[in-house]
This record gives sequence, structure tokens and C-alpha cells, in this order.
Amino acid sequence: GTLEASWQDEVRRLAASQDAVILAHNYQTPDIQDVAHHVGDSLALSRIAANTDASTIVFCGVHFMAETAKLLSPDKRVLVPTAEAGCSLADTIDADALRAWKSENPGAAVVAYVNTSAAVKAEADICCTSSNAVEVVESIPADTPVLFLPDQFLGAHVQRATGRTNIKVWMGECHVHAGISPTDIRTQVAAHPTAEVLVHPECGCASSAIWLAGEGDLPIGRTRIMSTGAMVDAAREMTASTALVATEIGMLHQLRKVNDRTTFLPMNAKASCRYMKMTNAQLLLRCLREGRDEITIPADIAAPARRAVERMIAIGK
Ligand code: 13P
Ligand code: SF4
Repeated sequence: GTLEASWQDEVRRLAASQDAVILAHNYQTPDIQDVAHHVGDSLALSRIAANTDASTIVFCGVHFMAETAKLLSPDKRVLVPTAEAGCSLADTIDADALRAWKSENPGAAVVAYVNTSAAVKAEADICCTSSNAVEVVESIPADTPVLFLPDQFLGAHVQRATGRTNIKVWMGECHVHAGISPTDIRTQVAAHPTAEVLVHPECGCASSAIWLAGEGDLPIGRTRIMSTGAMVDAAREMTASTALVATEIGMLHQLRKVNDRTTFLPMNAKASCRYMKMTNAQLLLRCLREGRDEITIPADIAAPARRAVERMIAIGK
């Protein structure tokens, strides 16, 4: 309606007047995705943040994503509509716990998923996202032990994909993805037997999907484990009439936008991240008008954390 058009126009006007680029993660609400200049997964948005000419980055997502953007663009102003948008997965490990884990495993290379605080990244050798985790681990010499954190399911996926036995995995999980159960998969696959299946590696059900594939319930050719960005690429090419999507439900908006031939259904319609959903029109307008919340990172944390993120970016993909 006109009201909607007017706040969106106001967001774009304020962004232009402040030389700001608005980035939105695939899990943001549809209205926020639609008003943003760029929508994508954490890696794609990190790259855009690193390369933008804009002097302000407004990150519609969660706190660690805005922190990553700040690490890559230290001279830019980086804003997040609310600093309270955390991440239950990032909260499963802090810098003290990581230091203790490292001291028990001297000589190991530390790979930190981007879903971590800057203080944790500062203790890591290299970062990864769900779209490059396998490549990042493969970049580490085969005989060097690896500590992978904090997601146990992404860690299990990397162990399977690389076939390495010298990877220790932190037992963290994301409450949203862990909530998508093997029963959800069984029920949905039985109800939609010809559907393609897209699974985010943070899902506990990712391992179940592979297992079911072995059982023949879920043909492996139709099951793909991928990041949110790769799901959009897969959707563009898709010809199936139905696809089941095992990740946060905000994802469905971009999938439906790029492909109207396929019906995209959630594996579990309750898989909603309350932190991602904190961003709304009002907070985005406040962010642009009042310059809050601004991300700052102490210099002694920023330098080593930036090194870990830049090593990841250098690997490509
Ligand atoms: P992506 O890197 O696939 O966008 O995932 C980010 C995330 O928070 C998953 O819960
Ligand atoms: Fe964190 Fe999970 Fe939300 Fe992603 S979906 S931001 S991992 S709590």
C-alpha cells in the first residue's frame, strides 16, 4: 500500500543522503529484503562490504555479520538496526573457552565459522562460512590437526566432505536449525515424494538427510546441502514442481522471487530466527536517522580477527 511505499522511499532517500549501502541477509523479513540494495548469504555480503564505495554500511542481519563487515571495512561507518540481534550459535563459545580448547590441542589450526564474535575470530587462524567451509579446511595441510568451531553439524558436514579424521568439532548448535528434526524431513518427504530437497549444513537433519539417502527414502540426487546463497543459485535453475527447504524460513522469499515455476515449501514452518526478525522498518529508519547502533571493535581484537577473515576471503569461492 501507500504507507509501505512511503517508508521504503524514506529508507532509500536517507540512504542516498548518507552515502549508505543497505545489505540484508537472506533470513531478514521480506519487506527488509526488498528495500535493501543487496540481499545474500554471509559470505556474499562480506565481500560486498569489503568492496563497496559507500562510506556507511547498514547491515540488516545479526551482530556478528555487521562486525565482520566492520573488520573488512575498518574506515567505514558500520551500522546495525539493533545491536541486540545476536546469534544463539555464536553464543556457544567465547574467547576464554576457545583459548582453553587451544591449550588442550597445541599445534592445531583453528577454523572459526563466521557465526562467532570478533573476540573469538581473533583467536582463530582462519574463518569460514557455510559456502566455503570445505575449501577452507582443505587449504590446511592434511597432517595438521584442525579445531572446527562452533557448529557441530557444519563440522560433521566438513568431516564427511573432506574425509579427514583429524578434525575436532566444538559441540555448538543453532537453535533454529537444530529444531528442524529428522521427523520433519521424513514427514515432508513422504508428503512430497518428488520434491527436490535443499538443506543448510547447520541443520541437525543434514546428517539425517544423508542417512535417509542411504536408506533410499530420499534419493541423494535430489538432496543438496548448501549455504543460503547457493540455494538461490540452485533455485534459478530448478525445474521441479516442488522443493523442500530445510533452513530459516526467511530464505523462501528469495527462492520464490527467482523461480515462480517451483513451489518452495519449508521443511519446518516454525524455523524462524528471532534475532534475524528483530530488524523492522522502524528500527531501520532509526538506524539511518540516528546512526545507531554503530559497530566498534577494539584495535587489539580487530587486527587478529581481520587476519582470520582476510585469509578466508583470499581462498576465493
Ligand atoms: P549463510 O552463510 O548460509 O548465509 O548462513 C548464515 C546463518 O546464520 C545460518 O544460520
Ligand atoms: Fe544464528 Fe541460527 Fe539465527 Fe543463523 S539462524 S543467525 S545461526 S541463531
